[in-house]
Amino acid sequence: MRLTILGGGGFRVPLVYGALLTDHAEGRVTEVVLHDLDDRRLHAVTRVLAEQAAGVPDAPAVTATTDLDAALRGADFVFSAIRVGGLEGRADDERVALAEGVLGQETVGAGGIAYGLRTVPVAVDIARRVARLAPDAWVINFTNPAGLVTEAMSRHLGDRVIGICDSPVGLGRRIARVLGTRQEQAFVDYVGLNHLGWVRGLRVAGRDELPRLLGDPALLGSFEEGRLFGADWLRSLGAIPNEYLHYYYFNRETVRAYQEAGKTRGAFLRDQQARFYEEAADPAVSALRAWDRTRAEREATYMAENRESAGAGEREAEDLSGGYEKVALALMRAIARDERATLILNVRNRSTLSALDADAVVEVPCLVDASGAHPFAADPLPGHATGLVCAVKAVEREVLAAAASGSRASAVTAFALHPLVDSVTVARRLVERYTEVHPGLAYLA
Ligand code: G6P
Ligand code: MN
Repeated sequence: MRLTILGGGGFRVPLVYGALLTDHAEGRVTEVVLHDLDDRRLHAVTRVLAEQAAGVPDAPAVTATTDLDAALRGADFVFSAIRVGGLEGRADDERVALAEGVLGQETVGAGGIAYGLRTVPVAVDIARRVARLAPDAWVINFTNPAGLVTEAMSRHLGDRVIGICDSPVGLGRRIARVLGTRQEQAFVDYVGLNHLGWVRGLRVAGRDELPRLLGDPALLGSFEEGRLFGADWLRSLGAIPNEYLHYYYFNRETVRAYQEAGKTRGAFLRDQQARFYEEAADPAVSALRAWDRTRAEREATYMAENRESAGAGEREAEDLSGGYEKVALALMRAIARDERATLILNVRNRSTLSALDADAVVEVPCLVDASGAHPFAADPLPGHATGLVCAVKAVEREVLAAAASGSRASAVTAFALHPLVDSVTVARRLVERYTEVHPGLAYLA
């Protein structure tokens, strides 16, 4: 079984490889092909993986290439984990928006739109190549903004592309834990778009346990989202939102906190990871140790950032790294070995949410087997949530239109329609600023 990782020089690739190393069963991944545009990053990550594999007799063989077509040929699974414009691009996405007084964040609001405008044309090119060179491969997309990018790719790959994120599974795990059960025993009724979803129920043996949580202020105060949103607001909603909804429900506070922070998360990670790649280029240094130290530092600051800006508590250690690589592995196993699994994934809607059309990519629980991911039927969302989901989907559609046509007017419309951008004038200025700083947006005429 061959897995090709696009963005193979990325910082999180050792997490994926680490998960593969735990799989010894028949039908596991035996070959990993790393693809990246940057030789130096590939070299650094290849060194980390070699150290991880030491002493593991059935460790997947690793090769690296900068030739995309060569990387795709013969792949059974393709992970797309690219970052168009790198962390420098993310830092610019965040900085420009904050300077205009709106949320500057990796995937939500203006920053996410800029990131999407840069990424969609590249993702579409990849999807076309996969369709031509590896038509039977399954594409697992965790390139952000994951829902939008998955939808762009699905126009060329249909249901062979599946988007993943670690936030719903992390949320489900935390809720299950405070309710004294395990996520594996529960059905998490989570519905929405990527980074825009709500847990409306958690069923254990057919019984919904969520009302017990919503009715208990002590339980609500004992986990991250409970503290982040506050017991009163969660009771008003009657659901537990994905942590990314904090940017909607507490927008002013977050914008102000991020403006005051001085350095954005993207700028912090850019500097921190630049140090890692430099260290890992030195043959005298253990690349794995350098990577591990950098990862620990990143996680520690993630907690600190959340505590200060959002009032959230510390995350359990497993929530920080027990995330997306496990979803990816579970998804591959279910498909490759026809082992039925229930996973929350980004797939085409079909008729799951009646407010959206069949091709809109949504984030919902799916039954996965060798034939792919099939969304479970879901109860409709309440009006306020449907409103947000439809508004953000409309924004995503404008991004897709702008990427397909190169229309600057569509790009302005995308920003202007976003619920977290409060003025068309600001939207126009954002397009000006972003096209100035991002070479990847030169296509917008
Ligand atoms: C979560 C989200 C990802 C996002 C990441 C950002 O894992 O699901 O989509 O990219 O957080 O974390 P970072 O450490 O890069 O700020
Ligand atoms: Mn995510």
